[in-house]
Amino acid sequence: MDVREFFSQWDIYRLCIEHNTLHHREVEECLRAEFRHRHTPFRFLDLASGDATITARALAPAPVASYTAVDFSAPALALAGGNTAVLDCPREFLNEEFTDFLRTRGGIFDVIYLGLSLHHLSREDKREAMVHLHRLLAPDGVFCMFEPILHGGESRDECLARWHRHMDGPYDAFPAAAREAVWDHVRTFDHPESLDEYFDSARAAGFADGAVLFQDQGNFYALMRFTR
Ligand SMILES: C[S@@+](CC[C@H](N)C(=O)[O-])C[C@H]1O[C@@H](n2cnc3c(N)ncnc32)[C@H](O)[C@@H]1O
Repeated sequence: MDVREFFSQWDIYRLCIEHNTLHHREVEECLRAEFRHRHTPFRFLDLASGDATITARALAPAPVASYTAVDFSAPALALAGGNTAVLDCPREFLNEEFTDFLRTRGGIFDVIYLGLSLHHLSREDKREAMVHLHRLLAPDGVFCMFEPILHGGESRDECLARWHRHMDGPYDAFPAAAREAVWDHVRTFDHPESLDEYFDSARAAGFADGAVLFQDQGNFYALMRFTR
């Protein structure tokens, strides 16, 4: 199953959200806190938006000037349309590769969120994406990114073996086929980086400052925040 097919069968990913295996609840809380600090209307870009479950809820109380979602899964975008209907602002839903969007798009955003998708790219392509993310951000803009991380000195294989062991427990409630599909997706497509690499690539792209807003107990994922 390729990446597009996996995310077109949204019911499998939906299980991850419902069972909070990827820490969506904690990330939603951090995003809500981030948006609460903004008192003037902001233009929001939801890159690889999925169904926008957490961004829609976190944005609902905030002064959003516009909402743009980019995703190559049409079923996910259709769900995002429903979930973001609570937002009182113009919305657009672009069914395309976010890397193409980043390379070709003009326009400026005040807040960009990229959740659980950059890690599908090679290191070189991740670094190129960071350059474009910096370019698309307003001068006082903020970029938040939630991605899987390698421990310092850990190889991809070691990280994935660690991730596979941690499925026992959090993924026990999944039907066997769904659990296998998640593992198959992770071992085929995930290319996590260390926090050092993410921060270094952000600096190289021109970002001024970076911080970790959330890390799970197992140190599998981190929510990072970068300012322009
Ligand atoms: C793991 S889900 C994350 C969804 C949401 N951002 C979140 O944090 O829950 C990944 C989403 O990114 C989309 N996606 C992955 N790679 C993509 C790419 N290269 N271009 C566009 N969308 C992509 C998938 O279709 C899917 O909806």
